[in-house]
Amino acid sequence: MLAGLGAYVPPRVVSNLELCDRLDTSDEWIRSRIGVSSRRIAEGEATVDLAVRAGQRALAAADRRDIGAVILATTSADRLCPAGAPEVASRLGLGSVAAFDIAAGCSGFVYGLAVASSLVTSGAFGSVLLIASEAFTALVDPSDRLTAVIFGDGAGAVVLTAGHAGQPGALGPFDLGSDGTNADLVHIPGGGTRAKKKAQAPTTDSAPFLRMNGPQVFELAVTNMSRSVRRVLAQANCSAADLDAVIAHQANQRILDAVADGLGLGAHQMLSNLTHVGNTAAASVPLLMAQAAASGALCAGQRVVLASFGAGLTWASTVLTWPKVHSVVE
Ligand code: UT7
Repeated sequence: MLAGLGAYVPPRVVSNLELCDRLDTSDEWIRSRIGVSSRRIAEGEATVDLAVRAGQRALAAADRRDIGAVILATTSADRLCPAGAPEVASRLGLGSVAAFDIAAGCSGFVYGLAVASSLVTSGAFGSVLLIASEAFTALVDPSDRLTAVIFGDGAGAVVLTAGHAGQPGALGPFDLGSDGTNADLVHIPGGGTRAKKKAQAPTTDSAPFLRMNGPQVFELAVTNMSRSVRRVLAQANCSAADLDAVIAHQANQRILDAVADGLGLGAHQMLSNLTHVGNTAAASVPLLMAQAAASGALCAGQRVVLASFGAGLTWASTVLTWPKVHSVVE
């Protein structure tokens, strides 16, 4: 069950107007087409550094140090090898605990919840620290106006502990899925073995920067997140009308509005922090969970759905009754 939340965003705020100085774009376009006014950009901090900060806060919120495993969900790893989780665990002073990364695009956190809650309910570990962290802007081509205006950096973390099915804070059921036939719609072509083993000559396609077919990803995000939420609600024997809040991947306010419309949700049920942080990839769901809990927008007893969609393609949803839980965001 959910026993503590933490989040960290780097201090540097980059406004739309600042981006307009170097890109052919406008504040009006970014706000109306995406819903972002500003984002946080990590300077001198990489994904593991952000993860350590969010992890410290989640441990403080849960008031525990007896962690059995650390899982890091990220699409912007510090290095291709090794995974970042072992370094996060040791920098948090957690010793030689189990530690590994999960790569499932922007769905990595909700995939991570499924894995972490299985590890806890199976009895393998008494508690798990799951962190989603992204210094994603390092992977964005600064000259690509389509992607450079969307992303921001940040991290969110949760501590999961053993509990009883059905009690507040217990996670599940889960709906997880993927569509590898659309792997190229949002991807980073360079930096991996494919670029090194198959490239005949260096091209812009081998650059280690994100490439995205925005309109197609938009459509598939709406379809797959909506379908995934419907499935998880059916498994949980409840309907959209029973929900107090939906925390969905923060990619674009128009995606959130379309998912809300399709599910028959009111605007107040679909939470959003997009305007101040942009799309923080896998970190977006736990960042919003932690911020909403800290601000009082999420309260004990509320029925909440978490939903995500991202590169892979992947999607994932789960449902929980919000527990009495601390959240540390500053
Ligand atoms: O987190 C992983 C999953 N990612 C997502 O879910 C992102 C999904 N996609 C999106 O959110 C949207 O597709 C974008 C925000 C990326 C793009 O918005 P769009 O409304 O789909 O734009 P578009 O690509 O259809 O382009 C519309 C117009 C084009 O101009 P013309 O051809 O109509 O003259 C673009 O060149 O907007 C232009 N444009 C821009 N204009 C000003 C594209 N980017 C910009 C920009 N500023 N930054």
